[in-house]
Amino acid sequence: MDLHVLTLPGDGIGTEVTAEAVRVLRHAANKFGHKLTLTEGLLGGVAIHKTGTPFPAATEALALEADATLMGAVGLPEFDNAPPERRPEKGLLGIRKTLGVYANLRPVRAYEALIESSPLKNHLVRGTDMIIVRELTGGIYYGTPRGITGEGAEARAVNTMTYTRPEIERVTRMAFELASKRRRKVSSVDKSNVLENSQLWRKVVVEISAEYPGIELEHILVDNCAMQLVLNPRRFDVVLTENMFGDILSDEGAVLAGSIGMLPSASIGARRPNGAWVGLYEPVHGSAPDIAGQNKANPLGAIGSVAALFEYSFGLLEEAAAVNKAMEAVLNNGRVTADLKPSGTPATTSQVGEAVCEAIG
Ligand code: IPM
Ligand code: MN
Repeated sequence: MDLHVLTLPGDGIGTEVTAEAVRVLRHAANKFGHKLTLTEGLLGGVAIHKTGTPFPAATEALALEADATLMGAVGLPEFDNAPPERRPEKGLLGIRKTLGVYANLRPVRAYEALIESSPLKNHLVRGTDMIIVRELTGGIYYGTPRGITGEGAEARAVNTMTYTRPEIERVTRMAFELASKRRRKVSSVDKSNVLENSQLWRKVVVEISAEYPGIELEHILVDNCAMQLVLNPRRFDVVLTENMFGDILSDEGAVLAGSIGMLPSASIGARRPNGAWVGLYEPVHGSAPDIAGQNKANPLGAIGSVAALFEYSFGLLEEAAAVNKAMEAVLNNGRVTADLKPSGTPATTSQVGEAVCEAIG
């Protein structure tokens, strides 16, 4: 199969973890006899430095051309006080919107080998296996009006949380489709005791659930969900939620798995005529400028995103399974970075990438 993949390493540790993800992608493509074509583009802070904008038109064109996009991370402290339009994060929001990747899938699994790295007691976290389905192209991240007006005591800031029925419908269907292949339970997260937005969310989710009779649906308020994630994470199978709630809950979910460095994500949109999904793949972690350039970031979130890329954008399930299995083997061998290794000599970023390739065979 021809695989045309765009890489956007971005900022901070994004370049290091993407290099390892690409190493694994090349290795697996080669092993399974696929022809891999790689292009590379600029996104985030590095793009602002080189072109003056976080999401240059050239990157947009490359993304629309490729079959799938593999991203590292965006964000640099020097832009912390820049207005939203001139921040690296704006580039990420831009590419998500351009590709129309409305469903962000963030699997949270407690690997047995990492059970000691979780901040939760073993008996609470053992067996956790959920997927967070985060709406990604709507809600308060994109709603208008937005902005800051006035000065001094007159200063006023506004953001708008907005959802339309079709936006809720499509991401809900995605969650139910996933649940039908898992443990058949959807937990829809909202704040319907306060927000009209959540009231519409809940109403539409209930209506769509009627299309999926064999699947259990529960509603859970976002504050309670944050608590349940640490009290009883095993109760969750598919967690469906809007953009900002999903951003927050997925960081919380990430540490259950031992380290935020572990979490991959797949952002998917429409299906192409051949049935594969348009997709943007990225680790859940940020650019971590404090450890950038030191070859010590955990690349497994990025490498797990390669597995997701095989699965969703190419329908290559065997290749995806090979990458996931190799990651587990590496975890079991303890060839892991410092975030997962409180004592003993940690592996470097590149050693982890090499170990995954070896384990693929
Ligand atoms: C994430 C990140 C992004 C988000 C930032 C970098 C814009 O935190 O992917 O979770 O909030 O979506
Ligand atoms: Mn986030």
